[in-house]
Amino acid sequence: MNKMEKATRSSGLLGWIDERFPLTELWEQHVSKYYAPKNFNFWYFFGSLALLVLVIQIVSGIFLTMNYKPAGDLAFDSVEYIMRDVEWGWLIRYIHSTGASAFFVVVYLHMFRGVMYGSYKSPRELIWIFGMLIYLVLMAEAFMGYLLPWGQMSYWGAQVIISLFGALPGIGEDLALWIRGDYNVSEVTLNRFFALHVIALPLVLVFLVIAHLMALHEVGSNNPDGVDIKKHKDESGVPLDGIPFHPYYTVKDIFGVGVFLIVFSLVVFFAPEFGGMFLEAPNFEPANPLKTPDHIAPVWYFTPFYAILRAVPNKLGGVLAMGAAIAVLFVLPWLDRGKVKSIRYRGLGYKIALTLFVIAFILLGYLGLQQPTPVKTLLAQIGTATYFGFFIFLWLYTFFGWEKTKPVPERVTFK
Ligand code: HEM
Repeated sequence: MNKMEKATRSSGLLGWIDERFPLTELWEQHVSKYYAPKNFNFWYFFGSLALLVLVIQIVSGIFLTMNYKPAGDLAFDSVEYIMRDVEWGWLIRYIHSTGASAFFVVVYLHMFRGVMYGSYKSPRELIWIFGMLIYLVLMAEAFMGYLLPWGQMSYWGAQVIISLFGALPGIGEDLALWIRGDYNVSEVTLNRFFALHVIALPLVLVFLVIAHLMALHEVGSNNPDGVDIKKHKDESGVPLDGIPFHPYYTVKDIFGVGVFLIVFSLVVFFAPEFGGMFLEAPNFEPANPLKTPDHIAPVWYFTPFYAILRAVPNKLGGVLAMGAAIAVLFVLPWLDRGKVKSIRYRGLGYKIALTLFVIAFILLGYLGLQQPTPVKTLLAQIGTATYFGFFIFLWLYTFFGWEKTKPVPERVTFK
């Protein structure tokens, strides 16, 4: 856009600002004249909800930091102090702990939408890559946050996960030592995790989310039909199947926010521990380096990967399988050579494979929470094979042109 075309108001306060800062221009470019496909459905709620949860976590986190003390002999008690003595402290803490789980619920649904509608495919590969980086940083953020209450599960969970790095050949032990800053998880670890959790990783997250949205607005949103709305424009260049984000999708997203906040509040007020899934029972005991809990399991959002780790009998093999399970998602845009984006027009093989993948992911998530038994280990191995099988199948199916797709409509459809 050249200087002459720049969107500006000529009078009033807005005019004054526009002459000094591109406020109207930004608003038009990203909101009131950002044309999004008119057939968005339920699955398109989760991007804006992820943004909302990010804000909830940052704000509640700031308030928690005002009373939390990152020291080995104070951390646990400072959390109890927040829960009992700080005004509304219990609410702030429950909002933050529930928010962590809500983040993953929303992000998993958001990622699943991307897979279903082929939103990772050209030209949206970078949106996906930024998304995956967000996911990776989010996992690190949640993992480090979990150490801070300094309960038994915080301590032993961190001990188990950091020691996994020790399995890497050559550098492993040194790497684990470098992460902990000590020979065991200790106050040194607590201090650095606090610094990373409170400032470093949230900053990275915010930058990545901005990059994610800039990449999205550069190429435009995909939609449930996976058709390119830019192919059909009116004489002024507006896509015929597009509607301005504001007011149409701002209103839609506000409705989503309302429903989300109702469900979120029900959990915060009535089931903040969520049966031990969001806040685990051993974490109500202070960390004790001399007493290992009977059963150490990560929080539910990590358990699919934890189950993959345990499914492989060899420690190094398990660590590599777990890494590969995440790494393979990064290359999804290049594994899937299919021409058709949306599941609506893809082959039956793809639909069956994706269904099996989802079942395997949920099964692995369940198994990762359980004590291993021979039967459960076998099930986890089947789940792991199905998880990786999905990606191998997808590549073969699309690379060799075995997929029988349905014709994709020229314009978006409504059901
Ligand atoms: C803090 C976490 C995240 C935030 C705040 C966020 C935000 C958003 C928003 C606001 C949109 C546009 C609205 C929508 O399509 O729902 C979007 C689109 C998208 N996001 Fe995310 N996102 C996050 C994480 C992720 C992750 C982890 C992935 C995948 C690995 C991902 C992949 C995508 C894709 C592919 C699109 C384009 C969807 C389409 O046009 O159909 N995002 N994101």
